[in-house]
Amino acid sequence: MSRLRVDGKDVVVFQGVYPPSEDTFLLIDALRSGAAGGALELCCGTGAVGLSIADKLDSITALDINPIAVKNARQNYMNNGLSGRLDAVVGDLFSPLKKQSFDLIFMNPPYLLDEEGGPEDLSWSGGEGGRRIIDRFIEGLGGFLGEEGRALFVQSTLNGIDESLDMINGEGMVGRVVSKVNFQFEGLVVIEVRHRPPQKD
Ligand SMILES: C[S@@+](CC[C@H](N)C(=O)[O-])C[C@H]1O[C@@H](n2cnc3c(N)ncnc32)[C@H](O)[C@@H]1O
Repeated sequence: MSRLRVDGKDVVVFQGVYPPSEDTFLLIDALRSGAAGGALELCCGTGAVGLSIADKLDSITALDINPIAVKNARQNYMNNGLSGRLDAVVGDLFSPLKKQSFDLIFMNPPYLLDEEGGPEDLSWSGGEGGRRIIDRFIEGLGGFLGEEGRALFVQSTLNGIDESLDMINGEGMVGRVVSKVNFQFEGLVVIEVRHRPPQKD
């Protein structure tokens, strides 16, 4: 187990759980403005992203397919005195959730291209093209995002930014890139999604 400070919070990282990294910090930065109400964090890992804004929220559902990550997130909320706001759930993306809507939804998914098709490491592998989770997220998002809600997710420039924006548009929502950081061979972006406002006649 390792320990670090993330945005003023104590975060422990259990063995086998994705440690807070560049992509985690990019999403934390993008969430600084406008966190309020009820939130959903998908692919929560240690829970560090949600934890960074948890004191501004009424409640947060943090979900991961890895039961150790969910245990880890619970521990981190408890260590920071915020477990009263947390509902931590094990599951595959939106599938364990009842019909409900959130003011804020965010996700740092596995998005790395994994073209060899070997045994997948769920914490980083986005499958061939890296869109294994991203596509399912965009398809399911509209049903859980409140009317005035906002969603933010991380992806790589190698995953196809236009592909995501076109899919978002096709699902009746509007997307835009709100942050970007460049590395030698790729960039990481945060895409913000909202419902498309009704057309005026
Ligand atoms: C890149 S890590 C991000 C962890 C954390 N949010 C962060 O930013 O540090 C991706 C996380 O997605 C989880 N994950 C992978 N596939 C999933 C799925 N189908 N449903 C829910 N979580 C999933 C992994 O277990 C892992 O914790």
